Amino acid sequence: MAFIDLHCHMLPGIDDGAKSTEQALAMARQAQADGIRSVVVTPHHLNGVYLNLAEDIRQAVRAFKLLTLANGIGIQLLPGSELHLVPELPDALERGEAMTIADRGRAVLVELPVFTVPVGADQILDDLLGMGLTPVIAHPERNRALAERPERLADWVERGCLAQVTAQSCTGAFGTVSQNAAKTMIGNGWIHVMASDAHRDRRRIPQLSLGRDMVASWTSPELARLLVLAYPKALINGQDVDRSLLLQALAALPGQQQRRPWWRLFRRS
Ligand SMILES: [Fe+2]
Repeated sequence: MAFIDLHCHMLPGIDDGAKSTEQALAMARQAQADGIRSVVVTPHHLNGVYLNLAEDIRQAVRAFKLLTLANGIGIQLLPGSELHLVPELPDALERGEAMTIADRGRAVLVELPVFTVPVGADQILDDLLGMGLTPVIAHPERNRALAERPERLADWVERGCLAQVTAQSCTGAFGTVSQNAAKTMIGNGWIHVMASDAHRDRRRIPQLSLGRDMVASWTSPELARLLVLAYPKALINGQDVDRSLLLQALAALPGQQQRRPWWRLFRRS
């Protein structure tokens, strides 16, 4: 199966991802070997350490594309950014300074702090939705507050947000708390994308196959396919994701309707 990786720190030397062009090329080769055919490269922006403006990311992607072609690596590279969820973000997007997913101007990958959900997060997400942008919440299972109360994600999803789980959270590489949260979030239909969030050519590598296998064992191959291919494909093409496909895949799981009334989670009381 071909995969699309929506979150990957592969661009060399511009954030805490690949440290050199050699490492970035090694990551590109790993991605290709795993079956990843398209990678959205997502340098951090506005996280208090890194500032990567949209135009700088466009240029860096163009340069790295040439390098991969010169080295015979045949993956598609698309611009993106992991945008910290700060009050300045909506204005930065309005001014065109912050990069949207695949530069389509439709969806944005947004990142929370590690431990908390900041006061005001709801308002910023609403502001983005009001601008016609779909926030994709990066790895909610790795946020301590959300891992302890995964149902908080349901409200954001109901408002129109999407969410991205990290493949290595599903395989247990970040511990049982993140793994259990990932399983709960996926099982309830609050996760739409699985991505690598790769930073290196060792340990945090661009690989989706193992995470896909784990999600397929928790749910079904069809649901896993939505997360690693169908939904990321819609997002890089600037299209809406068809949420009914996920609900259908969940409803088709054995015993699902008896055990877990997930559809109530999408209804306001
Ligand atoms: Fe990331």
